Formats: sequence, C-alpha cells, structure tokens
Amino acid sequence: MTPPKAHGVRATNGEKAAAARSLLIEHAAELLTLRGPPEPRVRETAADLGIVEDGAVYVEGDRIVDVGAASEVRSRHPRADVRIDATGRVVMPGFVDPHTHAIFAGSREHEVEWKAQGLGYAEIAARGGGILSTVRATREASEDALVRTGSERMRSMLSAGTTTLEVKTGYGLRTDDEVRMLRASARAASLAGVDVVPTFLGAHAIPPEYEGRPDGYVELVSGTMLDAVRATGLASFCDVFVDTGYFTPAQARRILGKAKAAGLRPKVHADELAESGGASLAAEIAAVSADHLVHASSSGIDAMARADVIGVLLPATSLASRLPFADGRRLIAAGVPIALGTDFNPNCWCESMQLAAALACHHNGLRPAEAIVASTINAAHAVGRAAEVGSLEPGKRADLLVLDVPSYRHVGYRIGGNAVRTVVKSGRVRAHADSAMQ
Ligand code: NIG
Ligand code: FE
Repeated sequence: MTPPKAHGVRATNGEKAAAARSLLIEHAAELLTLRGPPEPRVRETAADLGIVEDGAVYVEGDRIVDVGAASEVRSRHPRADVRIDATGRVVMPGFVDPHTHAIFAGSREHEVEWKAQGLGYAEIAARGGGILSTVRATREASEDALVRTGSERMRSMLSAGTTTLEVKTGYGLRTDDEVRMLRASARAASLAGVDVVPTFLGAHAIPPEYEGRPDGYVELVSGTMLDAVRATGLASFCDVFVDTGYFTPAQARRILGKAKAAGLRPKVHADELAESGGASLAAEIAAVSADHLVHASSSGIDAMARADVIGVLLPATSLASRLPFADGRRLIAAGVPIALGTDFNPNCWCESMQLAAALACHHNGLRPAEAIVASTINAAHAVGRAAEVGSLEPGKRADLLVLDVPSYRHVGYRIGGNAVRTVVKSGRVRAHADSAMQ
C-alpha cells in the first residue's frame, strides 16, 4: 500500500512505522516542553511554553523518559536506537485537536458555490444543504466506508501534526446510526494510529422524522439513544448544539443532565450563529468546554471563567462560514482557559491545527505562544487527557513533533503549508519529510 502524501510529509501506516525502542531527539533550537501546573493554563500562564534552548527528549517504548538540555539528556542516555538531530528546528508536543466531526459520509463542496453567492449557514441548510444532507449520506453509508474515509482523514491530520483528536457523532441522529458512528471512530483511530476521544452529539440537529416535534427528539436522545451509547462504553463526552434553529438551553440542560448521570462529561456548541445562552449554560452545568463562542455574551464569558469552563476557539469555521471570529483577548482577560480546534467537518474541511493556530493569531487575537498552549496542553484538558498528552514531561505518552522552523513564533505566523518535518506517535516515527531521520 502506498502511504498517503500530505504537504510533502510522508505518513507511514502502523505496521510499517519505524519501531523505536528508544529514541533521542536532540539539539532542538527550541524545545517547547509546555511543562507546568496540572490545571488548564490561564492569563499569563496561557503563554508559558517552558522553552529549553538546545534541548533534547529521550523516549523508551511509548513513554517520555527524560527532557532537558541536550548535553545533560545525552550524558544520562548515551545510547538510543533512533536519533534525530533537530538542530535549527522546533520540537513540541503533538497537537491535540479537541473538536472535530471527522466521521461522516459524502462531502459538500457544492456549498462553496452558494457561499460565494453570499448565502449563510441557515440559508444553505434551507436549500437542502448543511448538517441534514450529511445525515442522509451517513445513514446510507456502510460502517466500513465510514471507517475508511475517517481513517484517511485522520492520517492526513497526523501528517499535519495532530496525534490526539476528539470526534463527535451527530450525523446519524438515529440510535443505531449514532452507535455506528462511535464504532467507526474507534476503528478508524486504530487503523490510522491516532488517539481518538469520542463524543456523543445526538443533539446536532432535529432529524426529518422529528420535524416540528423537537421535544420528542430530545426525549429520544436523552432516553433510548443515550442508554445505547452508554452500553457501548465508547463515548467519553456528550455535546449539544445550542443555537438558533437547533437546540435551546432548556433542551440541552435536560440532555446533558441525563448524560452526566450516565457518566458522560458535558460539552456545549455555544453561541456560534447567534447569542443563544450557550456560554452561560456551559457555566451553569460545569461543562468541560464551551466551543465556538463567536457571539458569547459578556456575562456568559465571566460565568465561564468562574466555573473553569474551557473556551474552545474554532476559527476555521469562522473562515468557512464567514462568521465573526470569537474574541480571544476578551476570553483570556476574563481568565477563561483557551483551547483551539479545527472543527473539521463537511462545512469546514480543515485538517490542520497549524492553520487553526495561524487563524487564531491573525483573527482571534491570540499571541503565538497562547495559540500553542491552546492547541496542546489546554486542548488536552478540553478532552480530559491532560495527564497523558499535551506536554513533554517524563511519564507522558511520547507524542511529539519536529517542526522545520527556527522558532515557535512561526506557528501562528505561517498561513497554510505544513511545517511538520517529523511526527512521533507513541514513541514511533510515523511521518517524516524525506531524509528527516539521521
Ligand atoms: O461545529 N455547529 C454545528 N456543527 C458543526 C457544523 C456541522 C456541519 O455543518 O455539518 C460545527 O460548525
Ligand atoms: Fe462543531
């Protein structure tokens, strides 16, 4: 099988990956450790990268063993099966993408013509496009087809540096189809060799068979559907699309209350299309995150800060749907921990956290260091994986990147392209530009 190419970086599949029993990456111009306290980073710590100049990381199996100045790490670990010279380059943790809808069938490229004519998200949905058109395609697709396309997308994300991603359901909207999406995400992740955090998003839209009966659908989602999802043991989070034309805070309160009791942690799609009370609701129910926040109210933002709700910014969606960009500076000033995601979905085909970071710096008001914290350790907090990934610290999973840039400031500066030279996933070199290995 020919490995897929993406941006000139070669992705290898799991079987063919170079098995690194021990691995030393040394002489990084800037080693971004992201080490720090166990909580999500806020205010001034939201820009703390824990930089080591001329740094090194030593890995055994799938774990990070040692991190620090190259001369010291090398003297403690003089032997390694694989060595990578990172002279002149940046080494950082793999990106954690805390918000994607990566499992679905079909595509919606024709909607770009409509966007070019000035149609907005609601008008596109009214023309038969949008979420429900992807629901039709996904219901008709086989599980194997969802696994194949999903794993291709995940490999492409891996080549751009994403080593952990969240994946939401929400294109089935029937019990069996939602469960099928959860199984497909788990299978796709293991084929692609990435870590997936699955989220149940049965409340993504009202399906056609419930048109005019939204409360009947809310009943189904918070009853039979949630029971079936819980029985699979596959979902970690439950999310609701709280917005005009979708779900109200009252409906979300009901679904997320039941989900919490079933052991799923709450998330909210909040205030994307209009101010809909999403940010305040997220604070009220102590959601792990509130995502989008384009139109979040000032009181909602302050409530999020008090309740430690992570704000997930999704600037690629603002780009794709011509929405305003969320006010990242206002959120950081309020003390809200910020994470950053791609929101990869058929409306916003963005596989690159590097692009999300560039957009966040150019349009959400994030500084490059804040964008990196938001796309690594804070993103790991937003998916409940901060004890495992998001920083380069001994004991954590060895997910790391070598970037072909001289300073972290180029993340956030470069728009498009792929600065990733090497991806190490669980201690294995999984993607690298030609001749990256020494
Ligand atoms: O996060 N906002 C709701 N869901 C997605 C879009 C899904 C779609 O258009 O298919 C989002 O933007
Ligand atoms: Fe989304």
